[in-house]
Amino acid sequence: IRHLLSSSDLTREQATTILDTAEEMARLTEGRSVKKLPTLRGRTVVNLFFEDSTRTRTSFELAAKRLSADVINFSAKGSSVSKGESLKDTALTLAAMGADAVVVRHSASGAPYRLADSGWIDANVLNAGDGTHEHPTQALLDAFTMRHHLGDLDGRHIVIVGDVLHGRVARSNVSLLATLGARVTVVAPPTLLPLGVEHWPCEVSYDLDAALPGASAVMMLRVQQERMNAAFFPSAREYSRRYGLDTQRFGRLSDDAIVLHPGPMNRGMEITAEVADSERSVIVEQVTNGVYVRMAVLYLMLAGAGDGTTGQEGAA
Ligand code: CP
Repeated sequence: IRHLLSSSDLTREQATTILDTAEEMARLTEGRSVKKLPTLRGRTVVNLFFEDSTRTRTSFELAAKRLSADVINFSAKGSSVSKGESLKDTALTLAAMGADAVVVRHSASGAPYRLADSGWIDANVLNAGDGTHEHPTQALLDAFTMRHHLGDLDGRHIVIVGDVLHGRVARSNVSLLATLGARVTVVAPPTLLPLGVEHWPCEVSYDLDAALPGASAVMMLRVQQERMNAAFFPSAREYSRRYGLDTQRFGRLSDDAIVLHPGPMNRGMEITAEVADSERSVIVEQVTNGVYVRMAVLYLMLAGAGDGTTGQEGAA
């Protein structure tokens, strides 16, 4: 894999290799006093964040460090971007420092494509969330978490609920889950669905109660109030009543179904605290798994093995 820009770029074989490699990363590091592998020693990973992040930035940093890479954290706040420096000049500066991989989050959909295609840098580019477009490593960590609990996702029914219009997680998840053979239903009020959603490889519904029975997993999405025009949104109370996951709706799920949320959560809006903290919520686990998945992606890109082996098999 040269760049990771979109879930839809991944074949089933590539996605499975990433998930299998992430399992190997978990096996090699979980519960160990020394969690580091020497695989990317001498390589430099740059975290280039033009938008805020808690989970993705720290988890890419931890993943790179666990593979012994050097990490440079760049956030637009406090950098020369606030003096008007362009994406191109920022990229050229980082390239001059010898970046091997650039992990980029940007409010503009397509910014990682610009970096990857421009020729400004020779590094591998990983999309850590671009505008309302894609967040492929989030989809990979979600699939990893679902696979861990449910086994093979082929034929499983996954329900994704909420603000599909302003988010980037739904698009990446629908694409990856379809590639892995799952049946996906996206549920949202009509005003929070993007144009063209009817062409996505999923079913679309406005009725959460009808979609839940038989689902193996339900993924609640954050209502992105900061990107919201009031005209789009019913009201917080109306939204929660029709699209929030509370204990009553939770009861419609089968006993082995799991609940996911990419975070950050609006507790009390799209999900109640009781459901978010319940035994069948895997929300905290998703964060842990994000490190393994990002280790896998960085490893496969930068170490170039491409066969899902880490070279550490003797270390178990
Ligand atoms: N899920 C996710 O992307 O979270 P952050 O915005 O905290 O990175």
